[in-house]
Amino acid sequence: MAIQQKGMHGAWASRWTFIMAATGSAVGLGNMWKFPYVAGSNGGGAFVLVYLGCILLIGVPVMMAEVLIGRQGRQSPINSMRDAVAESDAKSRWRHVGWVGVAAGMLILSFYAVIAGWALAYIFEAASGELAGVSGDTAGAIFGSLLADPSRLIFWQSIFMLLCVGVVVGGVKKGLGVAVEILMPVLFVMLLLLLGFSFFRGNFSAAWDFLFNFNLQLLTWRGVLEAMGQAFFTLSIGMGAIMAYGAYMPQKANIGKTILIVAFFDSLVAIISGLIIFSIVFATQGIEPSAGPGLMFISLPVAFGGMPGGLLIGSAFFVLVSIAAWSSAISLLEPCVAWLIEAKDISRVQANLLLAGFAWVLGLGSVLSFNVWSDIKFAGLTFFDFLDFLTANIMLPLSGLLIAVFVGYVMKREFVDYQMQGTAPKILALWRLTLRYVAPVAISAVFVMGIYDKFFS
Ligand code: PFF
Repeated sequence: MAIQQKGMHGAWASRWTFIMAATGSAVGLGNMWKFPYVAGSNGGGAFVLVYLGCILLIGVPVMMAEVLIGRQGRQSPINSMRDAVAESDAKSRWRHVGWVGVAAGMLILSFYAVIAGWALAYIFEAASGELAGVSGDTAGAIFGSLLADPSRLIFWQSIFMLLCVGVVVGGVKKGLGVAVEILMPVLFVMLLLLLGFSFFRGNFSAAWDFLFNFNLQLLTWRGVLEAMGQAFFTLSIGMGAIMAYGAYMPQKANIGKTILIVAFFDSLVAIISGLIIFSIVFATQGIEPSAGPGLMFISLPVAFGGMPGGLLIGSAFFVLVSIAAWSSAISLLEPCVAWLIEAKDISRVQANLLLAGFAWVLGLGSVLSFNVWSDIKFAGLTFFDFLDFLTANIMLPLSGLLIAVFVGYVMKREFVDYQMQGTAPKILALWRLTLRYVAPVAISAVFVMGIYDKFFS
């Protein structure tokens, strides 16, 4: 029987807390901001079908593998990975997997805080009445003036970062655990209220048709690849977050069943967000579902601004988005904090301040890339776009691929079997097959095509 390590960071109070925490990590800007516009620009239904397929067939198995390594090591992703490599007598090169994940997490946190800052700013933008009756052009100008103003962007980025530090300094049980147990139910209730609003006030049936009319002809090969990338991002795979959270998971919990629940909640939130956004968009003249990244910050304000009671609802909507982003961002900070505490023997408060400070400074690059530095390009991309591309299209698939191969081929079987106890043999065999063959081939395709698409097509 494999020997269990005792974690120094504590553990979740229960399996339910793990589910709330992992769902909190998964549900974020990826579901509410990115999913609707990516689905919108890819024609709707067929994209959604492929996206859900990717979640179930690739995302869930890889996420299980990541949690497994974390729970086996019971430390930060870097050290859990280090131990898993040593205990499996594998080549020490495999240890880099933990580093890639944690480094990607820091990079993502830096720009995630900037976008989450937009959502915070829009809570007040909507509540102030400034969006009342705005046209598309005016909404575009309001959004443009926010992006053009570094001091406003830095102000909101800083507030968001402080919110994250406020939670993570509290530790696993009293900080993260308590936060997700409060935030997630609030998020679900708000989501359902907004769904009700969009059902009665928006064009719900058009939104439903758009998301569930599976017209496969509209789907391109590139759309399939985007669906897979989105599935990875939305489940928080490959960035250490889920590995770190797995380290705090009760030993009794069945990894497969638990992760299925998390993936179900995550997909549900993406679909409900899509229904809310498209109901509102379709109820408003002149707004296209394929509006791209501006869908949430330009099109929605136009729609909210033109509806009775819309501004209050709009403000509530941005509170919802901010909560979702908050519960995701804390999962990006925690893995690095856990590692620094282990490696440098410093307090949780110090580790938080150092790392959040680092991510904040790096985030200034993203802030400035929307205005002062908009002409400075890295590989043809602004600093923000470059970081987004580097993490989502390179580091994330690479790390997910390595995790699948490591658990599928390299990790000692006795550890894997120990962590997967209680799983039916057929399911176990299917899972192993996915990790060994399906996931590596599919992820490699995303990886290669993603780079090809960006630089050579
Ligand atoms: N899953 C989050 C979202 O959909 O917004 C983003 C994310 C959070 C990615 C945490 C990775 C991560 F470690």
